[in-house]
Amino acid sequence: MRLRRQKTAALSHWAPVLAFVPRKGEKGLEDRIRYPEIDEFIRNTMAREDGVLKEMEEYACLNHIPIIAPETAALLRILVKIHKPARILEVGTAIGYSALVMAAASGGCASIDTIEIDEEMAILAERNIEKMGFKSRIRVLRGDALEVLQCLTTPYDMIFLDASKGHYPEFLPECMRLAREGGIILSDNVLYRGLVASKGHVEHKHRTIAVRLREYLESLCKNTLLDTAIIPIGDGLALSYKRRQ
Ligand SMILES: C[S@@+](CC[C@H](N)C(=O)[O-])C[C@H]1O[C@@H](n2cnc3c(N)ncnc32)[C@H](O)[C@@H]1O
Repeated sequence: MRLRRQKTAALSHWAPVLAFVPRKGEKGLEDRIRYPEIDEFIRNTMAREDGVLKEMEEYACLNHIPIIAPETAALLRILVKIHKPARILEVGTAIGYSALVMAAASGGCASIDTIEIDEEMAILAERNIEKMGFKSRIRVLRGDALEVLQCLTTPYDMIFLDASKGHYPEFLPECMRLAREGGIILSDNVLYRGLVASKGHVEHKHRTIAVRLREYLESLCKNTLLDTAIIPIGDGLALSYKRRQ
Protein backbone atom coordinates (compact mmCIF):
# COMPACT_ATOMS: atom_id res chain seq x y z
CA MET A 1 0.00 0.00 0.00
CA ARG A 2 1.30 3.44 -0.88
CA LEU A 3 1.76 5.87 1.95
CA ARG A 4 0.36 9.33 1.45
CA ARG A 5 1.15 12.38 3.50
CA GLN A 6 -1.88 14.04 4.99
CA LYS A 7 -1.81 17.84 4.75
CA THR A 8 -2.95 17.99 8.34
CA ALA A 9 -0.13 15.80 9.68
CA ALA A 10 2.47 17.47 11.84
CA LEU A 11 5.39 18.37 9.57
CA SER A 12 7.92 16.72 11.85
CA HIS A 13 6.25 13.40 11.13
CA TRP A 14 6.10 13.49 7.36
CA ALA A 15 9.78 13.43 6.52
CA PRO A 16 10.15 9.61 6.58
CA VAL A 17 7.21 9.11 4.24
CA LEU A 18 7.99 11.94 1.83
CA ALA A 19 9.32 9.45 -0.71
CA PHE A 20 5.98 7.77 -1.13
CA VAL A 21 3.93 10.79 -2.05
CA PRO A 22 3.04 10.40 -5.74
CA ARG A 23 4.73 13.13 -7.72
CA LYS A 24 2.88 15.58 -9.90
CA GLY A 25 1.02 13.64 -12.58
CA GLU A 26 2.03 10.29 -11.12
CA LYS A 27 -0.87 9.72 -8.79
CA GLY A 28 -1.04 6.17 -7.54
CA LEU A 29 1.97 5.01 -9.51
CA GLU A 30 3.75 2.27 -7.62
CA ASP A 31 7.36 3.01 -6.70
CA ARG A 32 9.38 -0.10 -7.48
CA ILE A 33 12.81 1.31 -6.63
CA ARG A 34 12.40 2.16 -2.98
CA TYR A 35 11.22 0.23 0.04
CA PRO A 36 9.30 2.19 2.68
CA GLU A 37 11.01 0.60 5.68
CA ILE A 38 14.51 1.13 4.23
CA ASP A 39 13.81 4.75 3.30
CA GLU A 40 12.33 5.36 6.74
CA PHE A 41 15.38 3.83 8.40
CA ILE A 42 17.82 5.83 6.24
CA ARG A 43 15.95 9.09 6.76
CA ASN A 44 15.73 8.59 10.49
CA THR A 45 19.44 7.76 10.63
CA MET A 46 21.06 10.27 8.30
CA ALA A 47 21.72 13.90 9.19
CA ARG A 48 18.83 16.03 7.95
CA GLU A 49 18.59 19.60 6.75
CA ASP A 50 17.68 22.47 9.01
CA GLY A 51 16.99 26.17 8.50
CA VAL A 52 15.96 27.40 5.05
CA LEU A 53 16.58 24.03 3.35
CA LYS A 54 14.26 22.31 5.82
CA GLU A 55 11.62 24.96 5.24
CA MET A 56 12.02 24.37 1.49
CA GLU A 57 11.54 20.61 1.92
CA GLU A 58 8.34 21.32 3.83
CA TYR A 59 7.13 23.80 1.24
CA ALA A 60 7.86 21.36 -1.59
CA CYS A 61 6.03 18.58 0.22
CA LEU A 62 2.95 20.68 0.95
CA ASN A 63 2.80 22.03 -2.58
CA HIS A 64 3.65 18.79 -4.39
CA ILE A 65 6.79 20.23 -5.94
CA PRO A 66 9.19 17.44 -6.83
CA ILE A 67 12.65 18.02 -5.39
CA ILE A 68 15.52 15.59 -4.99
CA ALA A 69 15.19 12.89 -2.33
CA PRO A 70 17.15 13.49 0.91
CA GLU A 71 19.47 10.56 0.05
CA THR A 72 20.20 12.10 -3.35
CA ALA A 73 20.85 15.45 -1.66
CA ALA A 74 23.35 13.75 0.67
CA LEU A 75 25.13 12.15 -2.30
CA LEU A 76 25.20 15.44 -4.24
CA ARG A 77 26.70 17.16 -1.24
CA ILE A 78 29.49 14.59 -0.98
CA LEU A 79 30.17 14.67 -4.73
CA VAL A 80 30.52 18.45 -4.60
CA LYS A 81 32.93 18.16 -1.68
CA ILE A 82 35.06 15.51 -3.44
CA HIS A 83 34.96 16.93 -6.96
CA LYS A 84 35.17 20.62 -5.92
CA PRO A 85 33.49 22.01 -9.06
CA ALA A 86 34.12 25.68 -9.77
CA ARG A 87 31.24 25.79 -12.23
CA ILE A 88 28.00 23.81 -11.95
CA LEU A 89 25.13 23.66 -14.43
CA GLU A 90 21.72 22.45 -13.31
CA VAL A 91 18.78 21.73 -15.60
CA GLY A 92 15.52 22.04 -13.60
CA THR A 93 15.61 24.55 -10.73
CA ALA A 94 12.10 24.28 -9.23
CA ILE A 95 12.32 26.22 -5.93
CA GLY A 96 16.13 26.11 -5.91
CA TYR A 97 16.55 23.33 -3.37
CA SER A 98 19.18 21.20 -5.12
CA ALA A 99 21.05 24.27 -6.37
CA LEU A 100 21.25 25.51 -2.77
CA VAL A 101 22.34 22.09 -1.50
CA MET A 102 25.23 22.18 -3.98
CA ALA A 103 26.07 25.83 -3.29
CA ALA A 104 26.18 25.21 0.46
CA ALA A 105 28.27 22.05 0.00
CA SER A 106 30.82 24.03 -2.01
CA GLY A 107 31.06 26.54 0.81
CA GLY A 108 30.00 29.22 -1.66
CA CYS A 109 32.99 28.51 -3.91
CA ALA A 110 31.05 27.13 -6.87
CA SER A 111 29.19 29.32 -9.28
CA ILE A 112 25.94 27.70 -10.38
CA ASP A 113 23.80 28.26 -13.45
CA THR A 114 20.38 26.66 -13.14
CA ILE A 115 17.75 26.50 -15.89
CA GLU A 116 14.01 26.80 -15.24
CA ILE A 117 11.12 27.13 -17.68
CA ASP A 118 8.41 27.99 -15.13
CA GLU A 119 8.47 31.69 -14.20
CA GLU A 120 6.68 31.11 -10.88
CA MET A 121 9.31 28.54 -9.88
CA ALA A 122 12.14 30.82 -11.00
CA ILE A 123 10.81 33.63 -8.78
CA LEU A 124 10.48 31.31 -5.78
CA ALA A 125 13.98 29.95 -6.40
CA GLU A 126 15.48 33.42 -6.52
CA ARG A 127 13.73 34.29 -3.27
CA ASN A 128 15.19 31.21 -1.56
CA ILE A 129 18.63 31.83 -3.06
CA GLU A 130 18.59 35.36 -1.67
CA LYS A 131 17.39 34.10 1.72
CA MET A 132 20.36 31.75 1.93
CA GLY A 133 22.81 34.45 0.81
CA PHE A 134 23.87 32.84 -2.49
CA LYS A 135 22.56 35.52 -4.85
CA SER A 136 26.03 36.20 -6.22
CA ARG A 137 26.78 32.48 -6.73
CA ILE A 138 23.57 31.12 -8.32
CA ARG A 139 22.10 32.43 -11.57
CA VAL A 140 18.62 31.29 -12.62
CA LEU A 141 18.45 31.07 -16.41
CA ARG A 142 14.86 31.26 -17.61
CA GLY A 143 13.64 29.35 -20.62
CA ASP A 144 13.35 25.97 -22.22
CA ALA A 145 16.38 23.90 -21.25
CA LEU A 146 17.30 22.80 -24.77
CA GLU A 147 17.25 26.37 -26.07
CA VAL A 148 19.19 27.71 -23.10
CA LEU A 149 21.74 24.88 -23.28
CA GLN A 150 22.35 25.67 -26.95
CA CYS A 151 23.26 29.26 -25.99
CA LEU A 152 25.83 28.28 -23.35
CA THR A 153 29.48 27.98 -24.29
CA THR A 154 31.71 28.02 -21.18
CA PRO A 155 32.43 24.47 -19.91
CA TYR A 156 31.15 23.22 -16.57
CA ASP A 157 32.83 20.91 -14.05
CA MET A 158 29.56 19.34 -13.01
CA ILE A 159 26.16 19.11 -14.71
CA PHE A 160 23.00 18.02 -12.91
CA LEU A 161 20.04 17.05 -15.10
CA ASP A 162 16.72 17.14 -13.26
CA ALA A 163 14.02 18.28 -15.70
CA SER A 164 11.66 16.82 -18.31
CA LYS A 165 13.05 13.28 -18.25
CA GLY A 166 11.61 12.52 -21.69
CA HIS A 167 14.01 15.10 -23.15
CA TYR A 168 17.21 13.75 -21.63
CA PRO A 169 18.27 12.18 -24.97
CA GLU A 170 18.14 15.66 -26.59
CA PHE A 171 19.97 17.25 -23.65
CA LEU A 172 22.84 14.76 -23.79
CA PRO A 173 24.76 16.13 -26.82
CA GLU A 174 24.62 19.60 -25.24
CA CYS A 175 25.78 18.26 -21.89
CA MET A 176 28.63 16.42 -23.60
CA ARG A 177 29.63 19.67 -25.31
CA LEU A 178 29.38 21.66 -22.07
CA ALA A 179 31.02 19.21 -19.65
CA ARG A 180 34.73 19.67 -19.37
CA GLU A 181 37.02 16.65 -19.62
CA GLY A 182 37.27 15.20 -16.13
CA GLY A 183 33.85 16.64 -15.35
CA ILE A 184 30.76 14.77 -14.16
CA ILE A 185 27.20 14.58 -15.42
CA LEU A 186 24.47 13.53 -13.01
CA SER A 187 21.04 12.56 -14.30
CA ASP A 188 18.18 12.19 -11.85
CA ASN A 189 15.01 10.07 -12.20
CA VAL A 190 16.63 7.69 -14.68
CA LEU A 191 14.85 4.64 -13.24
CA TYR A 192 11.51 6.45 -13.17
CA ARG A 193 9.78 4.52 -10.40
CA GLY A 194 11.26 1.28 -11.72
CA LEU A 195 9.30 1.53 -14.98
CA VAL A 196 12.49 1.90 -17.02
CA ALA A 197 13.52 -1.63 -16.01
CA SER A 198 10.02 -3.09 -16.13
CA LYS A 199 9.46 -6.05 -18.41
CA GLY A 200 5.73 -5.94 -17.77
CA HIS A 201 3.04 -3.67 -19.12
CA VAL A 202 3.77 0.03 -18.69
CA GLU A 203 0.73 2.29 -18.76
CA HIS A 204 0.51 4.33 -21.96
CA LYS A 205 0.97 7.70 -20.18
CA HIS A 206 4.33 6.56 -18.78
CA ARG A 207 5.53 4.46 -21.69
CA THR A 208 7.17 7.22 -23.74
CA ILE A 209 9.17 8.49 -20.77
CA ALA A 210 10.23 4.96 -19.81
CA VAL A 211 11.33 4.19 -23.38
CA ARG A 212 13.16 7.50 -23.74
CA LEU A 213 14.96 7.01 -20.42
CA ARG A 214 15.98 3.51 -21.46
CA GLU A 215 17.44 4.97 -24.68
CA TYR A 216 19.14 7.65 -22.65
CA LEU A 217 20.77 5.17 -20.28
CA GLU A 218 21.95 3.10 -23.25
CA SER A 219 23.49 6.21 -24.83
CA LEU A 220 25.25 7.08 -21.58
CA CYS A 221 26.57 3.56 -21.07
CA LYS A 222 27.69 3.09 -24.69
CA ASN A 223 29.41 6.45 -24.90
CA THR A 224 33.15 5.75 -24.99
CA LEU A 225 33.87 9.21 -23.59
CA LEU A 226 31.95 8.43 -20.41
CA ASP A 227 32.19 6.10 -17.44
CA THR A 228 28.69 5.68 -16.05
CA ALA A 229 27.22 4.15 -12.90
CA ILE A 230 23.45 3.78 -12.51
CA ILE A 231 22.54 4.09 -8.85
CA PRO A 232 19.10 3.05 -7.49
CA ILE A 233 18.90 6.02 -5.13
CA GLY A 234 15.88 8.32 -5.02
CA ASP A 235 14.19 7.84 -8.39
CA GLY A 236 17.41 6.50 -9.91
CA LEU A 237 20.57 8.53 -10.48
CA ALA A 238 23.11 8.09 -13.30
CA LEU A 239 26.58 9.32 -12.47
CA SER A 240 28.81 9.82 -15.51
CA TYR A 241 32.46 10.84 -15.64
CA LYS A 242 33.72 12.48 -18.85
CA ARG A 243 37.09 10.99 -19.59
CA ARG A 244 40.20 13.02 -20.27
CA GLN A 245 41.43 12.31 -23.81
C1 LIG B 1 12.18 17.86 -10.60
S1 LIG B 1 11.99 19.57 -10.69
C2 LIG B 1 13.59 20.15 -10.25
C3 LIG B 1 13.88 19.97 -8.80
C4 LIG B 1 15.18 20.62 -8.35
N1 LIG B 1 16.30 20.17 -9.12
C5 LIG B 1 15.41 20.27 -6.90
O1 LIG B 1 15.66 19.09 -6.60
O2 LIG B 1 15.33 21.15 -6.05
C6 LIG B 1 12.02 19.85 -12.40
C7 LIG B 1 11.92 21.32 -12.81
O3 LIG B 1 12.27 21.39 -14.18
C8 LIG B 1 11.46 22.34 -14.81
N2 LIG B 1 11.42 21.98 -16.23
C9 LIG B 1 10.71 20.99 -16.81
N3 LIG B 1 10.95 20.96 -18.13
C10 LIG B 1 11.83 21.95 -18.40
C11 LIG B 1 12.46 22.42 -19.56
N4 LIG B 1 12.24 21.86 -20.74
N5 LIG B 1 13.32 23.45 -19.47
C12 LIG B 1 13.58 24.02 -18.26
N6 LIG B 1 13.01 23.62 -17.11
C13 LIG B 1 12.14 22.61 -17.18
C14 LIG B 1 10.12 22.23 -14.12
O4 LIG B 1 9.38 23.43 -14.26
C15 LIG B 1 10.51 21.90 -12.70
O5 LIG B 1 10.54 23.06 -11.91
